[in-house]
Amino acid sequence: MSLEIIILAAGQGKRMRSSLPKVLHRVGGKPMLQHLIETAQKLRPKRIHIVVGHGKDEVIETITAGLQAAPDARKKTLNRKINWVTQSKQRGTGHAVKLALADVGVRSTVIVLNGDVPLVTPATLRKVSRVNNNLNLMTIELDNPKGLGRILRDSRGRITAIVEEKDASASEKKIREINTNCLAAKAASLIKWLSSVKSNNAQGEYYLTDVIGCAVRDGVAVRSIRPADTSETLGVNSKADLAGLERIYQRQCSDRLMASGVTVMDPERLDIRGTCRFGNDCTVDINVILEGTVKVGNNVRIGPNTVIRNTTIGHHSVIEANSVIENATIGKGCSVGPFARIRPETVLGDKARIGNFVETKKSTIGRGSKVNHLSYVGDSDIGEDVNIGAGVITCNYDGANKYKTVIGNNVFVGSDSQLVAPLRIADGATIGAGSTITSDVEIGALAISRGKQRSVKNWERPRKKK
Ligand code: UD1
Ligand code: CA
Repeated sequence: MSLEIIILAAGQGKRMRSSLPKVLHRVGGKPMLQHLIETAQKLRPKRIHIVVGHGKDEVIETITAGLQAAPDARKKTLNRKINWVTQSKQRGTGHAVKLALADVGVRSTVIVLNGDVPLVTPATLRKVSRVNNNLNLMTIELDNPKGLGRILRDSRGRITAIVEEKDASASEKKIREINTNCLAAKAASLIKWLSSVKSNNAQGEYYLTDVIGCAVRDGVAVRSIRPADTSETLGVNSKADLAGLERIYQRQCSDRLMASGVTVMDPERLDIRGTCRFGNDCTVDINVILEGTVKVGNNVRIGPNTVIRNTTIGHHSVIEANSVIENATIGKGCSVGPFARIRPETVLGDKARIGNFVETKKSTIGRGSKVNHLSYVGDSDIGEDVNIGAGVITCNYDGANKYKTVIGNNVFVGSDSQLVAPLRIADGATIGAGSTITSDVEIGALAISRGKQRSVKNWERPRKKK
């Protein structure tokens, strides 16, 4: 029997006070709706129907692009399984589900999910999906159920209905068991029940929750499914809710990392906005942000206050404090920072060293080479065992075009030199400190271009005028 999943995402989310549609707000750097789609996908449904309305074009565009960019190749096929359903006017959750059901096979089992509840797990959804001939409803007891639909039960504990807060009596408001709005039933039943739902309530909306009463009248048992963790039911209605969920999500990421053997100095001070993979015996210090896809080998130490984005780091490398690394490949046994800025398309060979206040971009720095202090290396190809002295700058840009600097093996570039590209410096060459090098340097040569030193004896310094 096939499974289809409906995600409700047409609402505006007024309380977010943002022009961004609510479901596009991000948790762990990823839109809430994308979290849900990826979770839904793990159940291998026939199709995923997403009801969109407010900011529809933006939602479709962002999510389609996000799924395309996902690292897992399987996710790329996911876009094909998505059916976007338009609800031009938000007339209630019941109305939204009804629209989506028009595209669902009558024999399918359907799971309905709120687009603003992103942390539900595949395991819980699997439990919800096993409906047999019942209606499964995910419920949970909360200390503060304010604003949520309450679960009504009869004297024998059977669920009889859901009452929305706005329609609830004083005694009903005291009920702590709430509706998470995640439910599952046979499509045919949902179609039948929703055709009888009316909008004569406090909000003048068609409530999905009214299907519970319909099921009870039809003699269909309503079973409550409890999630493994409360966080799975938490929805986002405000920026404060979003921040709360972000912390929960980050703690889960840290816990997973620690469970895989990574030493995390403070799980509350690590943020992962993407996916990362660590080898054995790695240490992550405080205030680290990992973004996109980050792959780290064995025995790597990541220092405090570092930002690492879409980067691979080889075994036994060290990233010292306050470094920012983006779209780079760091070899084995490298040392980067403190205060290094490694920009896109930097490739460091094994045992390369990048020191403080060094910026690199679109450059390869060969095995064992060092750029230890205050340098800019851009559009360069540097060989092995090269020493780039303090304050060296590759002048790669003439104001109109960019040019390459190619440096062979075993080259020594003296401090405070400018290498004006296009330029080639052959193996074993030496550049004297303070030189401005504008033409190619041969194998083993010394190139020096600074003015000759002059000494004036007994030099009289200027004196202050009286
Ligand atoms: C809903 C439930 C409530 C439950 C709560 C859990 C109803 C009537 N109430 O209330 O029992 O406790 O979720 O979070 O369902 N949406 C549409 N189209 C619409 C209206 C809403 O797509 O016409 C979408 C929203 O974008 C959102 C979801 O449905 O993702 C829930 O809508 P929302 O207005 O937030 O419902 P709640 O009032 O929170
Ligand atoms: Ca809500």
